[in-house]
Amino acid sequence: MQTIVAVHGPNLNMLGRRQPEIYGHTTLAEIDRALEARASAAGFRLVSFQSNHEGALVDFLQGEGWGAAGVIINPGALTHYGLALRDALAALSAPIVEVHLSNVYRREPFRHTSVVAPVATGQIAGLGWRGYLLALEWLIGELQGS
Ligand code: DQA
Repeated sequence: MQTIVAVHGPNLNMLGRRQPEIYGHTTLAEIDRALEARASAAGFRLVSFQSNHEGALVDFLQGEGWGAAGVIINPGALTHYGLALRDALAALSAPIVEVHLSNVYRREPFRHTSVVAPVATGQIAGLGWRGYLLALEWLIGELQGS
């Protein structure tokens, strides 16, 4: 069975409680559950991981992420400066979808730059928690060749 990993960066463990007017009321556990349900219905294993530490995210990508068939990642603020995370992603050959709950391009200028985007296959921003499921849907289609 192929594995898809969902990787969540700093502060995303606070979803549901953190600035809900920007990030919504859905918790990370709810997002992970929805991803797991859809992935398993499509015949994939979904492994999710959250950390507030860049090194832990790199360790996960070098371990579980290494053999993954697809990657969904919301790097949180590391999006804008996390070069070690970017390098870890660049080393993978699987397709990578970068997801942001908020539309980072409508927010502060520092959020307009993603150091991850150049090594990602594509990006979804501004569609809230459903962006993760759209990313998964794209990966499933891509991996099933449909
Ligand atoms: C975010 C946007 C980032 O700028 C921010 O630092 C986050 C969340 C988003 O999902 O909209 O932590 O990645």
